[in-house]
Amino acid sequence: MVKVLVVYYSRSGHTGEMAGFIARVALKRVEATSLEDLKAADAVIIGSPTYYGGMAAPVKELLDRSVVFHKELEGRAGGAFASSAHVGGGNETTILSIINALLIHGMVVQGDPRSDHYGPVSVGAPDGRVEAECLRYGKRVTELAGRLRSVSGGSVRSSRGRGVNRRRSAGR
Ligand SMILES: Cc1cc2nc3c(=O)[nH]c(=O)nc-3n(C[C@H](O)[C@H](O)[C@H](O)COP(=O)(O)O)c2cc1C
Repeated sequence: MVKVLVVYYSRSGHTGEMAGFIARVALKRVEATSLEDLKAADAVIIGSPTYYGGMAAPVKELLDRSVVFHKELEGRAGGAFASSAHVGGGNETTILSIINALLIHGMVVQGDPRSDHYGPVSVGAPDGRVEAECLRYGKRVTELAGRLRSVSGGSVRSSRGRGVNRRRSAGR
């Protein structure tokens, strides 16, 4: 069973509603998400409202704290979604700001050539289009996580952990 964790921050509920469409289980507000929660997941999908064209501070704070296990998320699936007030208000730059961090963790991100390319976006409250995008995204990232697990023989977490310890490279 692939473990997909959806982590989100939401003040007025829009991003939270999107999170609920992407996954009805394994859903956590960012304030309640521990570093262990991140490490235990095969896939992590992070949602944020757009704040000045980027992720909200609580999301950035969690990502900054995740430096303590830098390299240990390598090869896992990741993704992002966002809501904004305006069309052209920065949803995609917000998603990219999150994906940027996930890539630096070595995570694998699923794009979409047919639909919301970077991840689901909502302008204001999610409508039926956004709900369909979120459902599609949750399914696609879950499938990606399953494929990544199967190529690594289903033991991705333990083998990755040992690899990180063995290398003990300098820096982060
Ligand atoms: C501090 C702050 C900054 C914001 N910056 C933007 C912005 O740059 N562009 C935009 O379209 N909306 C912006 N908004 C609006 C939110 O992104 C939007 O209302 C979002 O849907 C709220 O999500 P939530 O209901 O999950 O809290 C901002 C809101 C706040 C509180």
